[in-house]
Amino acid sequence: MGSLAIDGGQPVRTQPMPSRCLIGQEEKQAAMRLFDEAIASGQPFGYNGPNEKQYEEDFARFMGGGYADGVNSGTNALFVALGALGLDAFSEVIVPPISDPGGVMPVIFIGCVPVVADADVRSYNTCADEIERMITERTRAIVVAHIGGDPVDMDPVMALARKHNLYVVEDCAQAHGARYKGKMLGTFGHTAAFSMMFGKHHCTGGQGGVVYTQDEAMYWRIKRFADRGKPFNLDAPGNVTAGLNNNLNELSAAIGVAQLAKLPTIVQKRHRIGEAVKAISPELLHEAPGIPWSAIARMRDHLAHHYFDTDHAIVTDVVENELEKLRAAVRVLSERVESDNPESSDGSEL
Ligand SMILES: Cc1ncc(COP(=O)(O)O)c(C=O)c1O
Repeated sequence: MGSLAIDGGQPVRTQPMPSRCLIGQEEKQAAMRLFDEAIASGQPFGYNGPNEKQYEEDFARFMGGGYADGVNSGTNALFVALGALGLDAFSEVIVPPISDPGGVMPVIFIGCVPVVADADVRSYNTCADEIERMITERTRAIVVAHIGGDPVDMDPVMALARKHNLYVVEDCAQAHGARYKGKMLGTFGHTAAFSMMFGKHHCTGGQGGVVYTQDEAMYWRIKRFADRGKPFNLDAPGNVTAGLNNNLNELSAAIGVAQLAKLPTIVQKRHRIGEAVKAISPELLHEAPGIPWSAIARMRDHLAHHYFDTDHAIVTDVVENELEKLRAAVRVLSERVESDNPESSDGSEL
């Protein structure tokens, strides 16, 4: 067995991985169009306008139906997705063990108490058994996060939620276009929160987010909570609930529309890369003992959020046992990423 490059062995790559170049001419043209319109009219872009409407309709269509509300970050998408549930102060909300801080902190800001469930031993995600251990008489909701695009095992989670009469909020910040049993993530819970910040494989430029639901009444509660309690779809003279200003803006929405048109291709590419890596060594990626099922390892019917969404300890474990196979997998991955670059100047779009 050869040694790792870090120990003086031959590196698999001599060049860095190609840049993903998520933003292209389409987004630039969308932004320029808005500037042209703003200059011609003398009015800035604003919010809640035709671009946001289109982005939300396109997003809901991408999800296979339902309702989407554009907001200004993934953190605030979760804040709104939780806030729309109208939970009593000091209710307990079960949260995932591994997430972005923005995937947990909103619980505190709706006046509730986060209670962390442990991870499934074979995943970075939590699971129904671990959630059930944390349920008390004060529990009202569960937040699950599909980390790295790797779906939480949703059927048992939803059965548990039904049994205890709990809301489920899906944190899909890393799972745009990922599926569980063939169905889009975000369509299982009562509400779902997506992040569209620039590090994700779908973005609205710099920051952004979407709150999604399939329930129309919930959608209107989401709209009101996201915009200072304005009386959307109500015959009321003024604001009806407390709320902050979490609105998306027209410029971000216009970029989001252009981005969304590319998302299916991006998801397909990630699938192809995942399949190529999987094919090189199924036993390494699926059955190596002690290795959590990271996004790159599972690659079943979902997409990888990153090239490698794994940590140092796991890599060490893998390389000690399976160095040659890991090297081969990395080689295939990097060749596939390069050969997948589209002819356009927009780069790999990953
Ligand atoms: C799982 C998860 N939840 C929430 C967030 C927060 O999203 P944002 O950074 O858009 O506020 C992120 C962002 O990385 C995330 O990965």
